[in-house]
Amino acid sequence: MHPAFQNSAAAIPITFATKSTWEGISATLPAPARQFAKANAFTAKPGQYLALPADDGSLAHVLFGIEDQTREWRDPFRPGQLPGLLPAGTYSFANAPHDARLAVLAFALGSYRFGRYKKNDAPGARLTPPSGVDMVEITRMADAATLARDLINTPANDMGPEELEQAARALAEKYGAGFISIVGDELLAGNFPLIHAVGMASARAPRLIEFTWGDPKHPKVTLVGKGVCFDSGGLDLKPSSGMLIMKKDMGGAANVLALAQMIMDAKLKVRLRVLIPAVENSVAGNAFRPLDIFKSRKGVNVEIGNTDAEGRLVLADALALADEEKPDLLIDLGTLTGAARVALGPDLPPFYTDDEALAADVARHARTENDPLWRMPLWMPYDKWLDSKTADLNNAPGGAFAGSITCALFLKRFVEHAKSWLHVDIYGWTPTAKPARPEGGECQAARAIYKLLSERYG
Ligand code: BES
Ligand code: MN
Ligand code: ZN
Repeated sequence: MHPAFQNSAAAIPITFATKSTWEGISATLPAPARQFAKANAFTAKPGQYLALPADDGSLAHVLFGIEDQTREWRDPFRPGQLPGLLPAGTYSFANAPHDARLAVLAFALGSYRFGRYKKNDAPGARLTPPSGVDMVEITRMADAATLARDLINTPANDMGPEELEQAARALAEKYGAGFISIVGDELLAGNFPLIHAVGMASARAPRLIEFTWGDPKHPKVTLVGKGVCFDSGGLDLKPSSGMLIMKKDMGGAANVLALAQMIMDAKLKVRLRVLIPAVENSVAGNAFRPLDIFKSRKGVNVEIGNTDAEGRLVLADALALADEEKPDLLIDLGTLTGAARVALGPDLPPFYTDDEALAADVARHARTENDPLWRMPLWMPYDKWLDSKTADLNNAPGGAFAGSITCALFLKRFVEHAKSWLHVDIYGWTPTAKPARPEGGECQAARAIYKLLSERYG
């Protein structure tokens, strides 16, 4: 089990209350407890917490407010606040929150703290899970989220292309996957010109990380993750405000690894292939420049409109490679555009696909896993915005419109043979803490997609 959980017969009960159930719950409490709650102005507001003492002053019972039934939206992760509120000890649910499974998951997700450089405030509260919740599956999901968050939160000085490769290699080895990596100038020999172009200005060599797992006769599922270990913007340098959290620009790779871990751990009946172009988008005399033109792996000549639109470049060569073997399902995740955030904010990544059945399944699992995703269109009338006067394609259309869509359309040019393709423009970061989502690196899209794959190939 995940370390947030511990079975104990002496667990302290947590009662969930809403504004409308509180009165009834309060009536069942012993008079002193009822009075104590009243004196503390406990009204079961969402997120409100109150510890009730026993006669000897020890902790007897916890009250926690969750959204009311009558409210339009109930946060199924609200109980994810509890680890940050409760003192060390073991607790159990005295009654059912809105969704027991998601509440248990939220408890584990909300217990996460990034402790690599500061061993400080790791919550000491443990949950004795209610019966009927599949704790193997919960632990699998929580462990995957920890992997993604740790990789994203690790600063770029300790998470360069080589360290990202080490993380992928460790995962591949754990599950017996075949691993290779193509590094530095080998990328040119192997025909990955765009990955090389973006990564060559860094002292830390760019690379294409690859591992393959599972029965080759099973359906081919290929995952591609943007692994830009730091995005300075290149010669089109970002301002300091825009550069500040760009250690997270390998969030696509981190979430692809989290997803791969769940797939392999659950032994889904797929032939899994993972591709991660890992680079640092740096500034140096040999950096790629605005209006440079590179012939991509696919043979398409790409003009560089902006060196800061680097994610779609490295993904283009990786997607082209993935596409060559005609996978049944090709999925890419990446922190690709600020425009996706303008459209939907940090918590709701847009996804793109032309496969209607896949779109419906993604949307459904995103809802049931509380791993929110929202479909946006591969709007072909905007495809011509990618035209270049001197090459086949420009990586950064001039206008300021529909930036996440035009990025998706750029990637679509490199996917021809895959039976089905899904692209998710994630943020990979929680800017201000929310229940079950501590500030910092975030696992996005991996859980929803894992559940979709486990439904199809479990
Ligand atoms: N990594 C960024 C996208 C990004 C920025 C994600 C901020 C989340 C927060 C990406 O490489 C980028 O710089 N995209 C540019 C594209 C533009 C130059 C066409 C952007 O979104 O501004
Ligand atoms: Mn960029
Ligand atoms: Zn980037």
